[in-house]
Amino acid sequence: MNSNGATTQAMSQVQGFGHFAMLSDEQAEARITAARARLGQRVVLLSHHYQRESVYRHADLTGDSLKLARLAARTDADFILFCGVHFMAEVADILSRSEQIAILPDLAAGCSMADMADLVKVERCWDELAEVFGTPDTRITPVTYINSAADLKAFCGEHGGIVCTSTNAPAIIDWALAQREKVLFFPDQHLGRWTGFKKGIPLDQMAVWDPDLERGGLTAKELEHARILLWKGHCSVHQMFQAGHIQSWRTQYPDGFVISHPESNLDVCRESDYVGSTEFIIETITAAPPGTRWLVGTELNLVSRLAERLKPQGKIIKFMAPTVCMCSTMQRIDPQHLAWALENLANGNVVNPVRVPAREAELARTALTRMLEIS
Ligand code: 13P
Ligand code: SF4
Repeated sequence: MNSNGATTQAMSQVQGFGHFAMLSDEQAEARITAARARLGQRVVLLSHHYQRESVYRHADLTGDSLKLARLAARTDADFILFCGVHFMAEVADILSRSEQIAILPDLAAGCSMADMADLVKVERCWDELAEVFGTPDTRITPVTYINSAADLKAFCGEHGGIVCTSTNAPAIIDWALAQREKVLFFPDQHLGRWTGFKKGIPLDQMAVWDPDLERGGLTAKELEHARILLWKGHCSVHQMFQAGHIQSWRTQYPDGFVISHPESNLDVCRESDYVGSTEFIIETITAAPPGTRWLVGTELNLVSRLAERLKPQGKIIKFMAPTVCMCSTMQRIDPQHLAWALENLANGNVVNPVRVPAREAELARTALTRMLEIS
C-alpha cells in the first residue's frame, strides 16, 4: 500500500458518474456525508466562496484564492478535494507534498478568464517583446494572476516573475517593478489596471496587449512608454457590472455602501467604496454596523449566501447586476460530482486527480513561493 493508501487499496471497481447524475441533491448529500464518515481525516474539503450552497456547506475550510493556496500548503490530509476550479486544484497539487493528491470533482470546472492566456500566446508575446527590448528578462517582470494554468505560473518562475491574487496584487506589482522597469500582467487586464491606477501609474502608461494582433497591436513607441502591459483578458462574470448600476442604486440609497471585486472594470472600481477579494468582501460586510445597506459586485452565490447570513443583523445586501451572473464553471461542482468523487475515494479509487508535471510544478512553485513570501 502506498502512503495515502488509495490506489493499491482499490479492490472495488471505479463507479462511473452516470448513476450519480440521477441522484437528487438530498440523495447526493446523504452519500457525501456517509463517504466522508468513512474517510475521516484522510480527506479535507476546500471550497471557494463562489461554490453553490449545497456544496459549500460540506467544506472543512473556505477562502479566497490566496487563503486556499495557503491552506492547501499546510494540510496534512492525504486527499485535498477542491470545490473550486481547475487552477485552484493545480495550486493545491503544486504546494502540497508529493504524496498528497488534489482532486477536482469535475475536471470541466475551469475558468474562462484563465483560458484567455495560454503558453503559446504568452511565449509568442515574449518573443515579440524581445524584438523591441532585446532580452525582455532584463526589462520586464512577468506577473500572472493566480487564475491561470500551471504552465503560465511556470513561465513566470522561469523568467524571474511571480504570481499574484486579488488580495496581494498591490504588493506584488511593487515587487515586480522593483525588479525591472516594466510588468507584463496576464490574464486579467482589469485587476492589473486597477492595481496600477491605485499606485498612481497614469492610464496611458498601461497599454493593452491584444494577443491576437501582431506585437499586441502596439507600436514600439507605445511599448517603450508603457510601465504595465495588460493582457487583453477579463472575467465573464465581473464584466457584467457597470458603473451605471452603482449610480442608479446610489440615487435610491445615498447612505448605502458599494463593494466590488477588482476583476470588475476600472469605472466600477472607482465608483465603489471598497474593492477587494472575495474574502475581503465577506469580512468587510460582516464587520459593518447592523442595519447597513450594501451593493455588491461579485458572483451571485457568494452574495446570496452573505445576504441570507447577515439578514438577522438587519443588513440589506444586493447583487450589483440586474441579470443573474453566476460563474458557470464554478457551478459545475455539484453535490452529485462531490458524492461521486468521495464515494470512489472511500472505496479506494481516486477519480479526477489533478497532477501538474514535475518540472512545470517546480517552476510554478518558484513563482508561487515568491508570492507567498511577499504577501
Ligand atoms: P478571489 O481570490 O478574490 O477569491 O477571486 C477568485 C476569483 O476567481 C474571482 O473571480
Ligand atoms: Fe474565472 Fe470569473 Fe469564474 Fe472567477 S468568476 S473563476 S475569474 S470565470
